[in-house]
Amino acid sequence: MFLVDTTSTATDERDVGGAAQPMLIVRDLKKHFAVRGAAVRSTARVHAVDGVSFTVAKGETLGVVGESGCGKSTLGKLLMHLIDADSGELIFDGGAIGTRDMPLTQLRRNLQMVFQDSSSSLNPRLSIETSIAYGPRVHGASASEAKAKARDLLVRVGLRPDIFAGRYPHELSGGQKQRVNIARALALDPRMIILDESVSALDKSVEAQVLNLLRRLREDLRLTYIFISHDLNVVQYISDRVLVMYMGKIVEIGAVDEIYRRPRHPYTKALLRSRLSSSPDERIKLAPLTGDPPNPINPPPGCRFRARCPHARDLCATAEPVLEDGATGRKVACHFAEELADA
Ligand SMILES: Nc1ncnc2c1ncn2[C@@H]1O[C@H](COP(=O)(O)OP(=O)(O)OP(=O)(O)O)[C@@H](O)[C@H]1O
Ligand SMILES: [Mg+2]
Repeated sequence: MFLVDTTSTATDERDVGGAAQPMLIVRDLKKHFAVRGAAVRSTARVHAVDGVSFTVAKGETLGVVGESGCGKSTLGKLLMHLIDADSGELIFDGGAIGTRDMPLTQLRRNLQMVFQDSSSSLNPRLSIETSIAYGPRVHGASASEAKAKARDLLVRVGLRPDIFAGRYPHELSGGQKQRVNIARALALDPRMIILDESVSALDKSVEAQVLNLLRRLREDLRLTYIFISHDLNVVQYISDRVLVMYMGKIVEIGAVDEIYRRPRHPYTKALLRSRLSSSPDERIKLAPLTGDPPNPINPPPGCRFRARCPHARDLCATAEPVLEDGATGRKVACHFAEELADA
């Protein structure tokens, strides 16, 4: 007799493409912002997201890391269609977004985003329950259905409805507000959630509780996450794979354990070295990232990391490295990744 493990193999009736079809495919996504330059009438272009391609499998958590300004939030907003891409292709469970297969209205139900700033994302005039019930109401649920849904979601995110349903945002702690934001994101039964620095503003102990909540929800509701954070420890804890961004490009992507154990790209190496160590002595000893901080305005040809890279050579100034397939699904964009493997 075969026992079927229903928690991991049960099919989701919303699953159009089958288990092997990625939840999300991103192809050559680009967004440049025009900004006024210092010189009169000059316009500079910020290459915020500059030709990014990756996939996210169903049920996995893809971490996104990189220094401030590298394009993480812009990437999240492009995926959510909060801003329009200059070019690129997005495919959600096999359906090209914006076509009949996956119209934007359907995408908005399937894909939600939770931001860092919990106070500004909740309407101060709405009770918690009304706030969570808002989405279902707009999508046609009756008042009583929407209210029942909101209470159910409060339970799911660990807030007792009898205590919290009637409260207002100013009566909540930061962690409680973030739980409400998560409940709101879940209100339309999405399949995927983009979390952009969602736990970054919380105290460490509260952060750990919310991270565990997110993991539990992912299992219970079979969610897929993109988890954006500057905190490398948190990303390691929650992610299956990790995507490392530098100046609008992916420099390395692969399984989180492999990348953290043996980073291949010189930028990933430097980033992981600069991670806050728990020992102050070690923190001082470690070489920080040197050179100019990244400025994605009109980037020069070649490798964008070369000005800060200890291994840069002539080739790096002329030829842009492409993200190449390595062993076990790992990809690295460095001309000398092989050579530097043990450096
Ligand atoms: N609306 C905009 N207009 C012009 N430039 C923008 C706009 N939004 C973002 N940028 C620029 O695009 C680049 C990427 O910004 P983004 O917010 O995506 O970075 P980030 O990786 O999320 O940074 P952080 O870790 O600080 O949140 C930055 O140089 C930023 O100044
Ligand atoms: Mg950001």
